[in-house]
Amino acid sequence: MNKARHIAIIMDGNGRWAEAQGKKRVKGHEVGADVVKTITTYCSNNPEIERLTLYAFSTENWKRPRLEVEFLMKLLDRYLKKELDVYLKNNVRFEPIGDIRAFSTSLQKTIKHVEEKTAHCDGLVQSLALNYGSHNEILRAVNKLRNCDEDITEQMLSNALDCKHDIDLLIRTGGDKRLSNFLLWQSAYAELFFTDTLWP
Ligand code: IPE
Ligand code: IPE
Ligand code: MG
Repeated sequence: MNKARHIAIIMDGNGRWAEAQGKKRVKGHEVGADVVKTITTYCSNNPEIERLTLYAFSTENWKRPRLEVEFLMKLLDRYLKKELDVYLKNNVRFEPIGDIRAFSTSLQKTIKHVEEKTAHCDGLVQSLALNYGSHNEILRAVNKLRNCDEDITEQMLSNALDCKHDIDLLIRTGGDKRLSNFLLWQSAYAELFFTDTLWP
């Protein structure tokens, strides 16, 4: 296997983790957010790892119960505001991927704020996939290239994607062995690792 320079994680199993302890599903998301912090700090201290891309909210996740979606939006806002200091302390650059235009204006503002404030950091790049789906990402890329006169090359398509970097190692927690519309183009040659461990 290549060095794991770019690791991507499908953080699955929050709800089942909480239910197994007789707690509400949202508790699993809350603890899951703490694990995001732990794993990001861990990766930022390992110079071999350049990028960590985490699936936080998929284009399919809008189909969840309204209250759960609302909770996830609030949690994301809170997480980003709280973690800005941690990003800066660990020299981590935050780069969201996905179509964030679907989020509320205030959440978009928080996302852009953290992105701008960490733009100078040159350590680990942490990408959160927010309202992300590979199909949506590829469609938006194709539409960007639509008026191009020349034949579209792999490089041109790759550059038009939100995530322009191939994945070396793709991990999914929670026991399911599927990709759930995550980084389909970028994972063409990724090593795949599935674990039953629930994300929290
Ligand atoms: C993953 O955990 C987190 C998000 C999709 C936001 P789940 O909420 O999918 O937890 P399970 O898979 O139902 O246990
Ligand atoms: C994948 O988990 C999405 C995220 C981790 C954000 P899901 O739990 O939403 O995936 P499916 O629905 O089981 O495929
Ligand atoms: Mg799940």
